[in-house]
Amino acid sequence: MSATPPVVSNVGFDNTTLVPAGRPMEVSVVGAGYVGLTAAACMAELGHRVRCLEADPRRLATLRAGEVPIVEPGLKELMAAHRASGRLTFTNDVAAAVAGAEVALLCVGTPPRDNGQPDLRQLAAATREVAAAATGDLLLVVKSTVPPGTCEALELLAEPTDPTFRVRVASNPEFLRESQAVWDFFHPDRVVIGVDEPDLGRLVAELYPRNWPTLVCNRRSSELIKYAANSFLAVKISFANEIADLCQALGADSERVLSGVGLDSRIGPAFLSPGPGYGGSCLPKDVSGLVAVAQSVGLPATLARATMQVNEQVRVGLVAKLDATLGGLAGARIGVLGLAFKPGTDDIRHSPAVALVQAMTTAGAVVRVHDPLVAMGTTPGERVEDPYEVAENADALVIATAWPLYASLCPERLKQAMRGRVVMDTVGLVDSDSFAANGLRTYGVGSGQPLVFHPVIWGPLSWTLDEADSMAA
Ligand SMILES: NC(=O)c1ccc[n+]([C@@H]2O[C@H](COP(=O)([O-])OP(=O)(O)OC[C@H]3O[C@@H](n4cnc5c(N)ncnc54)[C@H](O)[C@@H]3O)[C@@H](O)[C@H]2O)c1
Repeated sequence: MSATPPVVSNVGFDNTTLVPAGRPMEVSVVGAGYVGLTAAACMAELGHRVRCLEADPRRLATLRAGEVPIVEPGLKELMAAHRASGRLTFTNDVAAAVAGAEVALLCVGTPPRDNGQPDLRQLAAATREVAAAATGDLLLVVKSTVPPGTCEALELLAEPTDPTFRVRVASNPEFLRESQAVWDFFHPDRVVIGVDEPDLGRLVAELYPRNWPTLVCNRRSSELIKYAANSFLAVKISFANEIADLCQALGADSERVLSGVGLDSRIGPAFLSPGPGYGGSCLPKDVSGLVAVAQSVGLPATLARATMQVNEQVRVGLVAKLDATLGGLAGARIGVLGLAFKPGTDDIRHSPAVALVQAMTTAGAVVRVHDPLVAMGTTPGERVEDPYEVAENADALVIATAWPLYASLCPERLKQAMRGRVVMDTVGLVDSDSFAANGLRTYGVGSGQPLVFHPVIWGPLSWTLDEADSMAA
């Protein structure tokens, strides 16, 4: 290949300013999950020739049939465009995937173990097999989220069959968000590259357009940036939930309070709304991974631990609030709207909605569930096709995922279908005034009637007045 191939797709956003990658390269992508499949299709869009290696036979068959096994806006169009352009192919043959490649992006899963440490077995296996299949010098680029030190450890495992080939390992963590992965790929806040040799940094940088903000550092720093960034987002979410609880106890308006806090440009509004806690395949795993990493070097990770604790408490608190409001959950009929860990995806890994359904079912509630994307039969609770169906004879409704569809549900129809009047809006989606006008009582994290109300107006003054009085005495 000589000239840079054109950008060919229209994936639903303005990509007219997209700069092709530094130089078209032969790229192998290992693992066709959210990260790998997005990277493979987007790298093809940037002009690279991409061979994607996927070990799961069902997933591979889906991909080869031109279908997309995950829900991501724009991905299907990109994949179709580059299967047609010939720049994107799928295989389960590691030799075919790696032959002639300069770089192999490792995008396999790093799920949490019960003790919070990440399970790196997929990554170790992929490293061994890809290194053994190298047909020349090869750079393994770790896009999976891994603890600091992993790239160095993987390099010890990476043994090419021909000892004259050099197989090196670089870090290039992925920051995409599920449900907007393609958009995020093409609009990165930063590309982080961790290497121990400047030449390798240049090679990884050539995968991306030259005008993208790029930060090059050593491998441990790069690996830690990803853990620290996700942990900080989780801290913000737990902080928002803690403040929301305080608002409820004090009779303050949590929505206004957190908006007021987020308007400070040093803080920002993102991830600062009360809700059912963080979930998904990344934040819970990466916070517990950070704690495990800190523990391994004798540090307490106090803030990360507290973040996890608050996240757990918020779900327990929501179930307790529902229990108290209904006078017991045993035998109660609850309609749950939403199962995905956030709107726009069918991913239910560590979903707060699923945790709530499980907790309510365990407490003896009869739960009916609706989700517009999550496949039927994958979770507890009876599944229904229509959101209004969950309301039929329900004592309470729980809005557990902020699907826009649920914001436009008609409160009058819901009230007619329900036998109770309680709506637990855990994601702050609906207009509580219009629900109240229809006789429905809305509760949320940090909103609804305070469970305990202290007349605090005299409290803070009495702290100092008492002191002043006693000093005067
Ligand atoms: N999902 C996200 O939003 C996201 C965002 C940023 C970073 N990450 C990180 O990226 C990594 C991958 O996440 P994901 O959600 O894409 O995972 P995933 O589980 O959805 O996909 C991993 C894929 O790799 C395949 N695979 C495993 N071993 C293989 C092998 N040896 N050869 C070929 N294929 C193999 C699996 O079959 C699977 O399809 C994780 O470390 C995750 O923490 C995920």
